[in-house]
Amino acid sequence: METQGKEARAETGTQQGAQSYAQPGAHVGAQQVKERVAVIGAGLMGHGVAQVFAVAGHQVILQDVRPEGLDPAVESVRRNLAFLAARGVGDEAAVEATVARITTTADMEEAAAAADFVVECVFEDMGLKQEIFRVLDACAPREAVLATNTSVMSITQIASRAEHRERIVGTHFWNPPYLIPLVEVVRGADTSYATMERALSILTAAGKHAVRVEKDVPGFVANRLQHALWREAISIVERGIADAATVDECIRYGFGLRLPRLAPLETADMVGLDLTLSIHEYLLPHLEASPEPSPLLRERVAAGDLGFKSGRGFQEWTPEAIRASREGLLEYLVGVVKNLDIATAPTESAAPGNNHTKE
Ligand SMILES: NC(=O)c1ccc[n+]([C@@H]2O[C@H](COP(=O)([O-])OP(=O)(O)OC[C@H]3O[C@@H](n4cnc5c(N)ncnc54)[C@H](O)[C@@H]3O)[C@@H](O)[C@H]2O)c1
Repeated sequence: METQGKEARAETGTQQGAQSYAQPGAHVGAQQVKERVAVIGAGLMGHGVAQVFAVAGHQVILQDVRPEGLDPAVESVRRNLAFLAARGVGDEAAVEATVARITTTADMEEAAAAADFVVECVFEDMGLKQEIFRVLDACAPREAVLATNTSVMSITQIASRAEHRERIVGTHFWNPPYLIPLVEVVRGADTSYATMERALSILTAAGKHAVRVEKDVPGFVANRLQHALWREAISIVERGIADAATVDECIRYGFGLRLPRLAPLETADMVGLDLTLSIHEYLLPHLEASPEPSPLLRERVAAGDLGFKSGRGFQEWTPEAIRASREGLLEYLVGVVKNLDIATAPTESAAPGNNHTKE
């Protein structure tokens, strides 16, 4: 009976999702059935992913193999919500009720056993993720969806030790997950249509901008784009064309400003594909195309110049400059999301009882 109920719910979710995720920033909010969500790994991404689902009104169980990391993870959620509320995003009065929807455990089997939707956020290690999905598949209710937050690795390989691979899917959140709308929903070789739809539906209803990635390729869509740009940026420094600060300025004060409104393929259509073709005929032979990481990058790493971690990377970083970079990004993103119709912080409407609740 439970299984039939879930299948019926999944179907409903499919229809809602199909309507809503087509519209940028749109979400079904109050119509979404509240699920039991388990988040495996309570680190940087795990606590933020737990926050996203708690804000959307779901019951969340946050698990980590290190029990001492669990209370600080919940405290981080509380701090994030207070930070947002102080800037006019969400309702300060709803913070404690939201945090109360997150329970914790160090026992992964316990977390999985009570879940309708699981998001794995452990270290980026193929062997570890494969083992976790073998165990999750054995412990989670048969109809639960099992999602991995891997940044670049194969969903198909991560699922390879599980028996029911059709319910395993990629859900690639971006950091910080409660401020960046995008989640790439990635189909592995064995992922079913129903699993893709359920992932798209729950994420869209939680205010995320969930997109379909239909092929399980390294880096999916957004990290391929991001690292293509990084490769060229490093190459420009390596070739002595401009220094690192100048490269970043060219993006920050130039085409980076318009990217959120005018992304590359829309720009190509705007300027004309004939012009785009002639630019590519002239320019592409001169761009970096190496399949290897840059020798300059390897040199810096070998010298211990790791960036913020060591105080020097492509540029010098004082502790003040590091703090300013991190805080500046958060303040900037809050300003951006305030202008988008997305749920990043709790409001009264997310409270259980104002929505359909789990049967
Ligand atoms: N950091 C980012 O910007 C970012 C962005 C998108 C996706 N990701 C992906 O998200 C995942 C997590 O990254 P992160 O930055 O949060 O890492 P993190 O190191 O901050 O957290 C990983 C957590 O997993 C826990 N863990 C390790 N083994 C475990 C196990 N067997 N069971 C339960 N918990 C376990 C660790 O104790 C730790 O708390 C990775 O796959 C990463 O590639 C990271």
